[in-house]
Amino acid sequence: MKVLSVNGSRRKKGNTQLFIQSILQPFSEAGASIENVFLGDFKIDACTGCEGCKRSWECVIKDDFQPLIEKMDGADVIVLASPTYWYTVTSDMKRFIDRSYSLIQFPHSRSEWIGKYDNSEKLCITAAVCEQTDEAHMGNTLDLLTDFAKDIGLNVVGSLKALRCFEAGSLLRQKELLLEAESFSKGVVLASPLSMAKRSSS
Ligand SMILES: Cc1cc2nc3c(=O)[nH]c(=O)nc-3n(C[C@H](O)[C@H](O)[C@H](O)COP(=O)(O)O)c2cc1C
Repeated sequence: MKVLSVNGSRRKKGNTQLFIQSILQPFSEAGASIENVFLGDFKIDACTGCEGCKRSWECVIKDDFQPLIEKMDGADVIVLASPTYWYTVTSDMKRFIDRSYSLIQFPHSRSEWIGKYDNSEKLCITAAVCEQTDEAHMGNTLDLLTDFAKDIGLNVVGSLKALRCFEAGSLLRQKELLLEAESFSKGVVLASPLSMAKRSSS
């Protein structure tokens, strides 16, 4: 089983990555292969709205978007996570989401679309991190990640949020929340083919 995490924060030791690590821990213990991606390491230009992807699953702008999509194509589980910047995802994450317009098609009408990963078995966990205590200040961060993941055809099995963390690493103080994230994904692992394969071989 291949697990890919996609992080919209540029702080590699930041709270989003700590949250991702807790989510990934059970997958790692179960023997999955894990790859962590920071969108800031990828040169992904803005969507120009050219509609060049109208009849294909390919974006016409050639940059680091394509290698990233290859990683998504190969993953069984995708953890999609971003900190809140001004009530929404970071600009790196938003550019990635906009360019993923090429991962949906409108075969019949503009009000109905299909996703590249529809009918796939790919699972997704979305996660968001913010500073404030009042959930309203997280804005649409988690909903945007979740709606996007569903639109492209991923099976979203959970959406996790961490509030009250500002400086890089401060999420470590919320041990209970990190344990909850870990135990949530442990449940996902237990229901997955990975652990079924382990059980049948032992
Ligand atoms: C440009 C910027 C905008 C932010 N906007 C918000 C916000 O709207 N609401 C909020 O609760 N936190 C906001 N924050 C705080 C971050 O979400 C918080 O520091 C988070 O832990 C950063 O995650 P990271 O360590 O993974 O980068 C903002 C931080 C920055 C740098």
